[in-house]
Amino acid sequence: MPNPFDTEFNRREVPALKTHKMVLGENGADLFAAGVADMDFQAPPVVRAAMRARLEHGIFGYEAMPDTLLPALTGWLAARHGWQVEAAHILRAPNVLNILAMAASVFTDPGDGIIVQPPVFFDFYDILRENDRKIRPNPLTLQNGRYGMDFDGLEKLAAEPRTKMLFLCNPHNPVGRVWTRAELTQLGDICARHDVLVVSDEIHADITLRGHSYTPFAALGPAYADNAITCLSPAKSFNIAACCSAFTVVSNQARRAAFQAENSRLTVNKNNAFASVAMVAAYEAGGPWLDAALAYIEGNVALVRAALAPLKTVQMVEPEGTFLLWLDFRALGLSPEGLTAFLREKAGWAVTRGQAFGKEGEGFARLNIACPRAKLAAALKTLTAALTPIS
Ligand SMILES: Cc1ncc(COP(=O)(O)O)c(C=O)c1O
Repeated sequence: MPNPFDTEFNRREVPALKTHKMVLGENGADLFAAGVADMDFQAPPVVRAAMRARLEHGIFGYEAMPDTLLPALTGWLAARHGWQVEAAHILRAPNVLNILAMAASVFTDPGDGIIVQPPVFFDFYDILRENDRKIRPNPLTLQNGRYGMDFDGLEKLAAEPRTKMLFLCNPHNPVGRVWTRAELTQLGDICARHDVLVVSDEIHADITLRGHSYTPFAALGPAYADNAITCLSPAKSFNIAACCSAFTVVSNQARRAAFQAENSRLTVNKNNAFASVAMVAAYEAGGPWLDAALAYIEGNVALVRAALAPLKTVQMVEPEGTFLLWLDFRALGLSPEGLTAFLREKAGWAVTRGQAFGKEGEGFARLNIACPRAKLAAALKTLTAALTPIS
């Protein structure tokens, strides 16, 4: 039986961002498009069947949230991650970035400091800038090829009077760390001591690799849950980002009311019919598909590891989660722009520039490996050829 993840699809048949000129620029059509963080795989058959059935109903008037939606989500979180969440603590949102922006604007004031731990997902910076919040960077540490958190730095920043919030990325895009219970506890204790609210972006929760398991920050205990806003979404796990569907878990009742009030004030429409059926199907029956996708991604990690091992000018940071690989090209000695140009022009790669994640990302690039293996293998050949005269 052919492996469905081996099938190549033409993303250009729809205006996919990954292959769009907005991302690839002019003359980028032939590049290996491995930037934008979605998968080149079709969504699970159960999800597509549910959407097809909804389409056939043919009426797309206003809808409420299906009664099956919150039980599907809480059931998933309990069965998959051992996290018991009360349905009443969950609010629906169009997407995770919307939750982050709302959290910043509802729970902090313009000019307040929000901690981020670079290199980190670039949209965190845009949200903070656009909301006139101060970016307070606490760079991750990098020792022997493994990233960690700088807890002393965190304590100092958290203690500053105007620091009010921390954006946590758990698991961490782009470095692929799946934070441990001990790390999250230490972070949570520091934040609690200084009254810093933890906004935990857990969109990559389901994408963990063998040997690593995701700990929801809010599952550390009631006190941690009380000081957390958790962002969840099936977008990455089931490749349905364009369906715009996310959730926030807010256990603190007063904060939940404040969040609801802002939702109402902005009249955010949260019940997209296709998103609803996609989410219910994914959370109720998408587990086996996700397991197969994760096994395939593990195979792709192994392929990249083997291909890069003989090369001296690039190192793969071992991923624990996400389908994004963080590649260290610092040994090439190129400027950030020089590296982007080298990868594009010599290797034919359109990956995400490391510097987009903060200055700590200079000399690195983020490679998305959620693609058919043959395509990845071909891209590794062009990279190897480009690097071989140098390595
Ligand atoms: C850490 C992280 N948060 C949020 C997003 C975007 O989420 P959404 O599309 O739900 O706004 C991404 C997408 O790459 C991401 O990696």
